[in-house]
Amino acid sequence: MKRSLGAKPLGLPAPVWVVGSYSPDGSPAIMVVSWGGICCSTPPCVAISIDKTRFSHANIIEHRAFTVNVPSRRHLIATDYLGLVSGATVDKFSATGLTAVKSDTVQAPFVKEFPLVFECRLLQSIDIGSHTQFIGQIMDVKADEAVLDDRGNPVAGKVSPLISSAGDRSYYALGEYLEQAYVPGMALMAEIAAKNGTNEPEPGALAPGEAAPTGTGRRADLQRAGRKSHHEKEMTYAT
Ligand SMILES: Cc1cc2nc3c(=O)[nH]c(=O)nc-3n(C[C@H](O)[C@H](O)[C@H](O)COP(=O)(O)O)c2cc1C
Repeated sequence: MKRSLGAKPLGLPAPVWVVGSYSPDGSPAIMVVSWGGICCSTPPCVAISIDKTRFSHANIIEHRAFTVNVPSRRHLIATDYLGLVSGATVDKFSATGLTAVKSDTVQAPFVKEFPLVFECRLLQSIDIGSHTQFIGQIMDVKADEAVLDDRGNPVAGKVSPLISSAGDRSYYALGEYLEQAYVPGMALMAEIAAKNGTNEPEPGALAPGEAAPTGTGRRADLQRAGRKSHHEKEMTYAT
């Protein structure tokens, strides 16, 4: 039996991201957000929600740009501080000893010490209520070599991002590695297909790079027509 908790913004898990922007006098500003996530593949976009009273809010509108910086576990104390004090009264870069670096592609600073950075140009602003949702088109991703795998992709275990839990007002670290994405789901799809007596799993059920199917079904139809299923496009992007 579930207990109703009422209408509350209790998203879980939530990221702990640090948003960089330039203030009106050109000095670099940073704040913490937990309300955000990747929101589009093409163009690659990220959405963050910022309270209208925050110092950073007007900065993003003014310069039509922001960065999203992903701190590691070792940056927890400085990051928490960035979410407690306002750039209206404090220079948070000098207070924490973090270094502001000018982005290559947009008018916003990134944090040199954090391992993963997204440079974003403001694409859309949505006035929701207390918060404005800023949708930023990702113009570049910058990552420390140390957090990349041998294919040049950032690895969660190496980035070691923080996780925020709004309900208990707490930070958590990343848990253990579990499984390659799509593998257990595809095994279940094959099991369900076998149970239903169909020879071929449903569209998108095959691994990236796997041989094209010769049988019937929507996925085979799409491939014969030279098109990819939506799921395949997502997998191409994600791998
Ligand atoms: C873990 C954590 C998550 C936060 N998430 C958000 C958020 O998603 N949106 C927001 O407007 N403020 C959020 N805040 C609060 C701001 O980071 C905080 O008010 C900050 O001081 C604003 O800085 P500024 O006034 O210099 O822009 C969060 C704070 C913490 C500690």
